Amino acid sequence: MTRVLVTGGAGFIGSHTVDLLMSRGHDVLVVDDLSTGFKANIARWANDPKFTFFKADITADITGTLDQYAAIKGPVERMIHFAAQTAVPLSMDDPVGDIRVNVMGTVALLEYARRNGIEKVAFASSSAVYDDDAPVPVNEESRARPSSPYGIDKLVIEFYLDYYARLYGLKYTALRFMNVYGPRQDPKSYYSGVISIFLDRAVRNEPITIFDDGEQTRDFVYATDVADAVVKSCLEDGALGEIINIGTGVEVTINQTARTILDLAKSRSTITHAPARAGDIRRSVTTMDKAARLLAFQPKVGLREGLEQTLAWVRTQMIVR
Ligand SMILES: NC(=O)c1ccc[n+]([C@@H]2O[C@H](COP(=O)([O-])OP(=O)(O)OC[C@H]3O[C@@H](n4cnc5c(N)ncnc54)[C@H](O)[C@@H]3O)[C@@H](O)[C@H]2O)c1
Repeated sequence: MTRVLVTGGAGFIGSHTVDLLMSRGHDVLVVDDLSTGFKANIARWANDPKFTFFKADITADITGTLDQYAAIKGPVERMIHFAAQTAVPLSMDDPVGDIRVNVMGTVALLEYARRNGIEKVAFASSSAVYDDDAPVPVNEESRARPSSPYGIDKLVIEFYLDYYARLYGLKYTALRFMNVYGPRQDPKSYYSGVISIFLDRAVRNEPITIFDDGEQTRDFVYATDVADAVVKSCLEDGALGEIINIGTGVEVTINQTARTILDLAKSRSTITHAPARAGDIRRSVTTMDKAARLLAFQPKVGLREGLEQTLAWVRTQMIVR
């Protein structure tokens, strides 16, 4: 049993990670300011004595927050860091605000980690560190040259992790997620994941807009598979100082994805096309060798099965509304 801090644990991927940690009997502290996360995502654990939730901003007094937890439960032993400003277009509109949360908030956590002897940090990095010139499939040795402030943040944080490891012996693993999808991904924003938006439109029989010609590709990885990789990288002592891509290795076009969703949802939605968005990359898929070798990571949920499960969740949300 380990005391694990999950920043951003009320969010989409964070809450699946909390589920996995709690189901394995760990003591979990979630720190989340609920800016894009929801208490409902972690509500099932609210009365569990092994679960603690603090509504707090990682850019505010994070030391005070974590000391408060330590006084009640004992010190945090390991850390999973998800909390972030995650919208790529917003990072372009407000790069200063973006750095404040993503870079400064993270450095505050790393300062806490090294001063308090945190055993290991797992960090949610992103395939947004790669650009359109990256090879297909991309691998961890491919040049990182982000096309957005958000991608730059993630790369900068990887450098900070390396710096803290060299100077203070901090142990860490950074995971560069490809496109993550699954239940609890919020479809309501313009910045949401494409699958959550398509599913939401499909169940309402509303038109689906595909940017560009739809032949651009993505590597869609299911949220519980990502949670599995994150928990492994946090709780196991291997993969120290490593950066690992987390995807499926399967390249699928946006057109194919939309067609599968319309088919599964038996939807009457029509598909329209709009001009390509600035910064969107054309092809995105990762090799899986490093994740398999260092984390023994194999995604378990294929795209069709994952879409079915996500669709079922989207339908439950419609009943609640
Ligand atoms: N979803 C993807 O496809 C994807 C791909 C690559 C990387 N990531 C990364 O994975 C992580 C989780 O992303 P997600 O898709 O679950 O997004 P999300 O928005 O659901 O989760 C982010 C969480 O962080 C919280 N948060 C934001 N700012 C905070 C702050 N200042 N203090 C405390 N909490 C704060 C939000 O309330 C939210 O619960 C992020 O770091 C994101 O950059 C996601």
